[in-house]
Amino acid sequence: MKKITIAFDGHSSCGKSTMARQLAQTLGYLYVDTGAMYRAVTLYALQHGLMDESSKQINQDGLQQALPDIQIVQKQEDGKVVTYLNGECVEQEIRQMRVSSCVSPIAALGFVRKHLVACQQQMGVNGGIVMDGRDIGTVVFPNAELKVFVTASSLVRAQRRLAELQAKGDTVLTLEEVQRNIEERDYIDSHREVTPLVQAPDALLLDNSNMTIEEQNQLVMKWAKERIEE
Ligand code: DC
Repeated sequence: MKKITIAFDGHSSCGKSTMARQLAQTLGYLYVDTGAMYRAVTLYALQHGLMDESSKQINQDGLQQALPDIQIVQKQEDGKVVTYLNGECVEQEIRQMRVSSCVSPIAALGFVRKHLVACQQQMGVNGGIVMDGRDIGTVVFPNAELKVFVTASSLVRAQRRLAELQAKGDTVLTLEEVQRNIEERDYIDSHREVTPLVQAPDALLLDNSNMTIEEQNQLVMKWAKERIEE
């Protein structure tokens, strides 16, 4: 059977990673979470004093020099995808607010994007891949056979993200704070100079504000089957 390339793009916290991962699992494809790659670079910058958490100042020369030393690997463990930074599992750390609030300025740096995009294109050379991010259908795989652009209202996304944080025992944030962080990231992601978040003209729009996970999964599976059988 034909092995296609599937690109998922869209806003943060709209469940695209879960959907993309489940689709990859059903199809037996490789799944890559590119947001986790930008988060891992951010964690490295914070850990190595290359970014100041409160001022968000970045030592760009230092970070550019360090990029070849930043090894990011994603492994499948117990049905989940887990991110390793230079051999250390950082899955929990990269999801914390400290990284979430610093990742957009890092993802806005052209040299970081160039480096990570090249790594991502290398991972997809043989097809049979589901990749999720912000620029997958526009920059990384402009010829992907299936492109999905996922969104939901910022309130629905904040409610989902807060429930996720609370489930992990991180209950200090209010719904308003989470929603503000999501809206700030939407703004930076959509207005940055380097490859802003935009829907590719040939991407299928999926607004899941009022959809269940099963409904979304069935819809993207239907789209994928149609493209595989074409
Ligand atoms: O999907 P996420 O929330 O884990 O992404 C983290 C950040 O990285 C977010 O600010 C958008 C950015 N990002 C990006 O610019 N390009 C990608 N391909 C993936 C994520």
